[in-house]
Amino acid sequence: MLLTTTPLVAAAWLASSMVQPAQAVTAGSIVNAGNTTVSAMMMFVGNSQKVYILDKAEGNAAQINGHPAWGAVWDFNSHTSFAMDVKTNVFCASGMHLPNGSYATFGGNGAVTVGGNIGSVTTDGGSAASFDATYQDYDGRKSIRILNPCTDDDDFTSENCQWFDNPDVLSMQKERWYSAAEPLGDGTIVLIGGFVNGGYINRNYPNTDPTYEGGAAEPTYEFYPANGRTAEIMQFMVKTSGLNSYAHTYLMPSGKMLVQANYSTMLWDPSTNTETDLPDMPGQVVRVYPASGAVAMLPLTPANNYTPTVIFCGGTNMTDDQWGNYSWPVIDTFYYPASADCQRLTPEPLDGSTPAYEQDDDMLESRTMGQFIILPNGKLLVVNGGENGTAGYSENTDTTTQYSQMPYGMSLAAAPVGKPALYDPNAPKGSRWSNDGFSTSNIPRLYHSSAILLPDASVLIAGSNPNVDVNLTTVFPTTYEAEIFYPPYFSASTRPVPSGIPNKLTYGGSYFDITLPSSSYSGNANDAADNTTVVVIRPGWTTHGMNMGQRYLQLNTSYTVNDNGTIAIHTSQMPPNPNIFQPGPAMVFVVVNGIPSNGTFVIVGSGNVETQSTSAAATLPTNQRASTDTSGTGSGSSSSSSDNGASSSHTGAIVGGVVGGLVALGILGALIGICLSRRRRAANRAPNATAAYAMGDRKNPISAPSPYSAGAVGAGFGAAAGGGVGSKELPADPYYRQDYNASSDWNTSNVALTAAPPMSPYHDVPRRENGMSFDVDPYSADSQMRTGTPDGGRRYR
Ligand SMILES: *[C@@H]1O[C@H](CO)[C@@H](O)[C@H](O)[C@H]1NC(C)=O
Ligand SMILES: *[C@@H]1O[C@H](CO)[C@@H](O)[C@H](O)[C@H]1NC(C)=O
Ligand SMILES: *[C@@H]1O[C@H](CO)[C@@H](O)[C@H](O)[C@H]1NC(C)=O
Ligand SMILES: *[C@@H]1O[C@H](CO)[C@@H](O)[C@H](O)[C@H]1NC(C)=O
Ligand SMILES: *[C@@H]1O[C@H](CO)[C@@H](O)[C@H](O)[C@H]1NC(C)=O
Ligand SMILES: *[C@@H]1O[C@H](CO)[C@@H](O)[C@H](O)[C@H]1NC(C)=O
Ligand SMILES: *[C@@H]1O[C@H](CO)[C@@H](O)[C@H](O)[C@H]1NC(C)=O
Ligand SMILES: *[C@@H]1O[C@H](CO)[C@@H](O)[C@H](O)[C@H]1NC(C)=O
Ligand SMILES: *[C@@H]1O[C@H](CO)[C@@H](O)[C@H](O)[C@H]1NC(C)=O
Ligand SMILES: *[C@@H]1O[C@H](CO)[C@@H](O)[C@H](O)[C@H]1NC(C)=O
Ligand SMILES: *[C@@H]1O[C@H](CO)[C@@H](O)[C@H](O)[C@H]1NC(C)=O
Repeated sequence: MLLTTTPLVAAAWLASSMVQPAQAVTAGSIVNAGNTTVSAMMMFVGNSQKVYILDKAEGNAAQINGHPAWGAVWDFNSHTSFAMDVKTNVFCASGMHLPNGSYATFGGNGAVTVGGNIGSVTTDGGSAASFDATYQDYDGRKSIRILNPCTDDDDFTSENCQWFDNPDVLSMQKERWYSAAEPLGDGTIVLIGGFVNGGYINRNYPNTDPTYEGGAAEPTYEFYPANGRTAEIMQFMVKTSGLNSYAHTYLMPSGKMLVQANYSTMLWDPSTNTETDLPDMPGQVVRVYPASGAVAMLPLTPANNYTPTVIFCGGTNMTDDQWGNYSWPVIDTFYYPASADCQRLTPEPLDGSTPAYEQDDDMLESRTMGQFIILPNGKLLVVNGGENGTAGYSENTDTTTQYSQMPYGMSLAAAPVGKPALYDPNAPKGSRWSNDGFSTSNIPRLYHSSAILLPDASVLIAGSNPNVDVNLTTVFPTTYEAEIFYPPYFSASTRPVPSGIPNKLTYGGSYFDITLPSSSYSGNANDAADNTTVVVIRPGWTTHGMNMGQRYLQLNTSYTVNDNGTIAIHTSQMPPNPNIFQPGPAMVFVVVNGIPSNGTFVIVGSGNVETQSTSAAATLPTNQRASTDTSGTGSGSSSSSSDNGASSSHTGAIVGGVVGGLVALGILGALIGICLSRRRRAANRAPNATAAYAMGDRKNPISAPSPYSAGAVGAGFGAAAGGGVGSKELPADPYYRQDYNASSDWNTSNVALTAAPPMSPYHDVPRRENGMSFDVDPYSADSQMRTGTPDGGRRYR
C-alpha cells in the first residue's frame, strides 16, 4: 500500500459561497515551503502571518548587523523569510507563550565561535565566553528573551517587533540548557531542571553526584516572573538524574503538574514543592531528550469532562549501561532501533481510581524525535525523527571511537522517517494509526527539527541539523528548506467559514454564537450541526520533538439550524478552570464533518499574569433543528474516507504498514543525522578528546559554600576528569563564579559595547542582583532600551 499511494486531489477550498479557487493543494502531500534563512531548531506561530524561528548561534550564511543570523521570521502567505537579530545564544532553549500573546525563550549556551568552540571573550578561566567577535553572539545561559509578534501592518524595524534580549534587565536565576517550561493557571511559567552547559545525557558515570554532577546539572525549578520566589531543588530531578532534561510537563486540572523523565513519573504541586509518585513507564522506555519520544496531551472535550490523558510514543529503551555520560553514548545508537511503543496515562482519573499506564497501539514504525501535532479534527499527526538511535550529536561513541568512522557524521540517529502518521485517539484499539495516502519527504528531519500547526490547519515542518556548526556536506546536513504537510481534510472542496468568533475567551460566563453559512458545508444541515465542533488549539513552542504548551480543548456547544441553512453554534467560553487551559494565545477552529475552518487567533483569559477570574458556565440553549430537509450549499464534500485514517477499512493494513514502512525507510537509510556543541578546545584537557558536548561552564553547586574553594575539577567537563567521577570538589577556576556578573564582562575593553545600534542592550548598566526575574515589561521597564514609539507595532493578531 505504501507504494501505491494515490494522492487525493483537492480542489481549492472556498472562501465563501462564491467560487474562489485558492491554490490547489493535495491532501497527504508534503510540499516545499521556502527557505527559513536559519535552520529551524525552534519555532512558534506568532499570529496569522508570521512564524518565528530560532537557531543556535552558528555559521549560517545569512547575515544580520554584521554577523551570522540565528533568528528569522517566516511568512505564511509568501513562504519567504528574513533574518532577525538575536543577541544571545539560544542553543537548546525552552520557550513558552505569555498570557498577552507575546513569547518568551529561556536559557541557552555561552558565546561560541566557529565549530562550536568557545567565543573570543572568555570568562570562567577560559572555558566559556561572554561574547564572540566572529559570530557576535553573547552568553545566553540565563537569558529570558521576549518577542511581541508583529504583522506586515507593523514596522518590523521597531523595537517592539524585535527580540528583547538583554540579560541586564531580565534573566533567570540559574543557567539552563534543555529546561522544561510549563505555565501555571495564572500564566506564570515554571522552568524546570536542565543542564548547566549541555551534554548528551545529564550525568557523569558512575553517577556519584546525581544532584549536581559536580556542577554540570541544574536540579532546580524557578518561576518567571519570579515575584520573589527563589530557585528550589526538585527532588524528581535527582531521582531521574541522567535523563531529566526537557522533562515532559503538563499542568493538570488540580493545579498539580505531571512531570515525566527517565522512566519515572510524578505529580508535582508547584505551590508546596511536594511530589506524588505515579507508576514507572512500562518497559522503562525513555521519552525525554535524548530518547525524545513523541508526547502530547489528548484532546480535552466535554465528553471526557476535560480530563487530561497524555500519550507517550517512541523514544528508546536503551539501558543504563548503554547511555554513557555527558560526552557520548556507550553504544552505536544509530544501530539501535528506537521504540515504537505507545502508552497512555490519565494522571487524575475522574473516578478517583489509581492512575495507571495503559498500553496503546504501537506506532507504524519505531521513532526517536517524532513529534505530535494535534490537528483541529482531534487526531494527532506524528512527524519527523528517525527509526534508529537518539537525539544528540557526537564525533564518536565508546564503540566507534574515530569520527572518520562514524557512519552518519555526528548524527546519533539514523534512518529518517519521511512519512507522517496519523493517530486517532477515538478509534478502536488496533486501528488507531494510519498513513494511507501520505507522501514521503526525502528531506531527513532528525536532530534539531521542528514542526507546528499553521492557521490554515496545515503543518509546517522545518529544521534538522545534527551537527555542531553548519555543515552542508555531511550525510544529514544543516537544513534550511521548510515543508508543509497537508492533512487529509485538505481533500475538502469546501471549508467552513464561520463568523462571530470573539478575540478573547473568558473562563466561564456567557456563551456566544458562531454563525456558519450554508455555504460552509454540504449535505444535510441537521447532520452538519450534529457534527460540528468548536476547538481551541495552542500549537505551542516547538523544539526537540516537543511542542511545549501544546493543548487542544473542544468548547461545549449547542446549535440552532435555520431553515435557510445557516447554523448558529451556541458556544460556551472556556471551562471555568484556568489549569485546564492556561491563559494566553490560541487559535479557534470550527470543524464541520471533520473539515476545519481556518484558525482565528484569540487570547484566553485576562492577558496578564494574575489569578484568572472565573465564573460559572451559562447554560446553553437546547438544540433547534431545521424543520425542513435543509442542506448546505458547499460544493462537494470532503473525501471522508481519507479523513478517517483509522476507519475499519484500514484496520487490516496496520501490520502491513509496519512492515512496509520499514522497507520504505530502509530506502531512506542512506540519508541521515544534537545540541552537542563541540567540546571546547580551551576547556578540554582530556587526552585525545574529540568533539562532543561543550562541557565547560559548570557553575558551583548551589549548596556550595564557596565557589573559590580549592580542588580543581578537571577541565570543567562536568567533573568528568578524574576518572569520570563527579567530583565533590569545587574548582579553583574562577569560572565557577558565585555571582554571574555579566555586565562587568561586557564592560571589558575588548568588547565593542556599541555594537548594533540603536538597540545596544549591552551597554554597561550596573547589573542588578543575581537571580532576578523581574515582574516587568522589559520593553518599557528600562527606558535605556528604547528608541521607538511606545505603541508602535504592539498589535496582536
Ligand atoms: C484560509 O487561509 C488560507 C491561507 O492563508 C487562505 O488562502 C484562505 O483564503 C483562508 N480562507 C478563508 C476563508 O479565509
Ligand atoms: C537558504 O537561505 C540561505 C541564507 O540566505 C542560503 O545561504 C541558502 O543557500 C538557502 N538554501 C536554499 C536551499 O535555498
Ligand atoms: C534512570 O533512572 C534510574 C532510576 O533512578 C537510574 O538508575 C538510572 O541511572 C537513570 N538512567 C540514566 C541513564 O541516567
Ligand atoms: C527494547 O524493545 C525491544 C522491542 O520492543 C525489545 O525487543 C527489547 O527486548 C527491549 N529491550 C529492553 C532492554 O527492554
Ligand atoms: C538500524 O538498526 C538496525 C538494527 O541494528 C540495523 O540493521 C539498520 O541497519 C540500522 N539502520 C541504519 C540506517 O543504520
Ligand atoms: C561536515 O561533515 C563531514 C562528515 O561528517 C566532515 O568530514 C566535515 O569535516 C564536516 N565539515 C565541517 C565544515 O565541519
Ligand atoms: C437565515 O435565517 C436566519 C433566521 O431567520 C436569519 O437571521 C439569517 O439572516 C438568514 N440568513 C440568510 C443568509 O438568509
Ligand atoms: C462526522 O464527520 C466525519 C467526517 O466526515 C465522519 O467520519 C463522521 O462519521 C461524522 N460523524 C457523525 C456523528 O456524523
Ligand atoms: C455543556 O452544556 C450543557 C448545557 O448547558 C451542560 O448541561 C453540560 O453540563 C455542559 N458540559 C460540560 C462538560 O460542561
Ligand atoms: C564519558 O565516558 C567516556 C568513556 O566512556 C570518557 O572518555 C569521558 O571522559 C566521559 N565524559 C564525562 C563527561 O564523564
Ligand atoms: C506582553 O508581556 C511582556 C512581559 O510583560 C511584555 O514585555 C510585552 O511587551 C507584552 N506584549 C505586548 C504585546 O504588550
